[in-house]
Amino acid sequence: MTDFRNKVVYQIYPKSFKDSDGDGVGDLRGIIEKLDYLAELGVDYLWITPFFLSPQKDNGYDVADYTAIDPRFGSMEDFEELVNAAGKRGLKIMLDMVLCHTSDQHLWFQKALGGDETYRRYYILRDGRNKKGPEDPGEPPTNWQCAFGGSAWQWEPRLGKWYLHLHDVSQPDLDWTNPRVREELAGVVRFWKERGVAGFRFDVINLISKPERFEDDTEGLGRRLFADGPHVHEYLRELVASAGLEGMVTVGEMASTDLENCLLYTRPDAHELSMVFNFHHLKVDYRDGDKWALMEPDIMELKRLFAAWQTGMAEGGGWNALFWCNHDQPRIVSRFGDEKTYRKESAKMLAACIHLMRGTPYIYQGEEIGMTNPGYTSIDQYRDVESLNHYQILLDKGKTEGEALEILSVRSRDNGRTPMQWSEEPHGGFSEAEPWIPVAANFAEVNVASDLGEKDSIFSFYRELIRIRKEMPIVAEGGIWFLEEENPDVLAYERRWNNESLIVLCNFRRQYARLIKGCVSDYEKDGYRKRIGNYQGTGAGLRPYEVIVYHKVG
Ligand code: GLC
Repeated sequence: MTDFRNKVVYQIYPKSFKDSDGDGVGDLRGIIEKLDYLAELGVDYLWITPFFLSPQKDNGYDVADYTAIDPRFGSMEDFEELVNAAGKRGLKIMLDMVLCHTSDQHLWFQKALGGDETYRRYYILRDGRNKKGPEDPGEPPTNWQCAFGGSAWQWEPRLGKWYLHLHDVSQPDLDWTNPRVREELAGVVRFWKERGVAGFRFDVINLISKPERFEDDTEGLGRRLFADGPHVHEYLRELVASAGLEGMVTVGEMASTDLENCLLYTRPDAHELSMVFNFHHLKVDYRDGDKWALMEPDIMELKRLFAAWQTGMAEGGGWNALFWCNHDQPRIVSRFGDEKTYRKESAKMLAACIHLMRGTPYIYQGEEIGMTNPGYTSIDQYRDVESLNHYQILLDKGKTEGEALEILSVRSRDNGRTPMQWSEEPHGGFSEAEPWIPVAANFAEVNVASDLGEKDSIFSFYRELIRIRKEMPIVAEGGIWFLEEENPDVLAYERRWNNESLIVLCNFRRQYARLIKGCVSDYEKDGYRKRIGNYQGTGAGLRPYEVIVYHKVG
């Protein structure tokens, strides 16, 4: 059995997980304090988002030194202790490698600014268009937009060129056509591998290979031109070989990707990655594809996307990462569930829905206790560069402050970045000091201590899902077929393996829902037994946000 199929990954955003030294910012020693909690949940890998030296313009995804730990998070000794203490509990560490760009504070960019030709060649520098003279910067080389709003090009007089930044202006993109850049980055990965890291997540890794020719995107903002670029597969295979990644668990974050490329990234014979994140299923509430235009989630579209990706990856021999939440996404109970009346029910339904699909599930800190969006009402509460930029863009487009704040309260990445709610103590037990970002107001009701205190806790439901994956090979190994495809309310699928069958029925609505097939309890007449669910007993249909999982052998 391939090593990652029956594993579960837990994502830690260290800044908001646990503060051990009372400065309002989470840290590595805070993670060490909570290892018993994570072992109790039963996860296998801890993916820790970047804690490297960084000016924190993009919360650590702007790396100034790949092999140094930012003192606000701790020291190399703390990291070694974390690896050892985790290992003693059967937990392995995965690190986040941000290899598409550096911070503008990185020594390489600083040397480029100083005129060093070797380092100028590490970045993507171009002349402007329509220059009126040698001193005139002209206009940006292409019309490409960066992910956080505005042009993807910045004029830099010290370089005498425009540099490309697909993210924040402080995150210049590296030039992967330069073999020296690729060798440096492989060295970074080796550095961490040698320190006991068991796996890696590669940030926006399908954006590393830019198109051969830089031209305007006549249909959009440029992304379709630089996602899954011409040499991306070749570069990944080279990285795997030169950093010695074969046999390690690796996951690539793939922006605006497609199924065909994801098969190439993850088929075992491709020797690229173990699995990939794609985001199509998290855009079904974007109106006309616009993240900043609100819409109720389109559940039929969600069902279509899961069916296409799950069956497509299975048929082509690829492997998915399964997830709803991460540090870039709002909380899933607030989004596809009901954070008020059915918080527990919908949190559990959403968990079972993806954990029993074909792929490796990821749990994002706080998801296992049903944490919600914080519902911020003032721009002062936001920290994220993307949110702050888009707030201004929304105002410039004529939205009122109230309208812009409402959009942010649904869409901002900060919704997923609020401090972990450990207890009803001040600041949710996250820190003794005022946290770097405000805690959600509901911390006194929604927290680890109160959830664990309940018999049917969300935490224990997650733990049971993890146990099911370990005990029942059908979850990791089985094929997948979608059911009830025309049903507007219920997402349903069957897993099959040898002579076993597992049926998962999920009601995505606040109302009672029926199956097209007939009564839910008919499965029992067919010899199925309920394995797990979020309500007692079974009925003719599904209660609000009900999930039922049936199992049959033979
Ligand atoms: C990824 C990260 C996100 C970051 C971006 C740029 O999408 O998940 O947080 O802002 O890459 O590094």
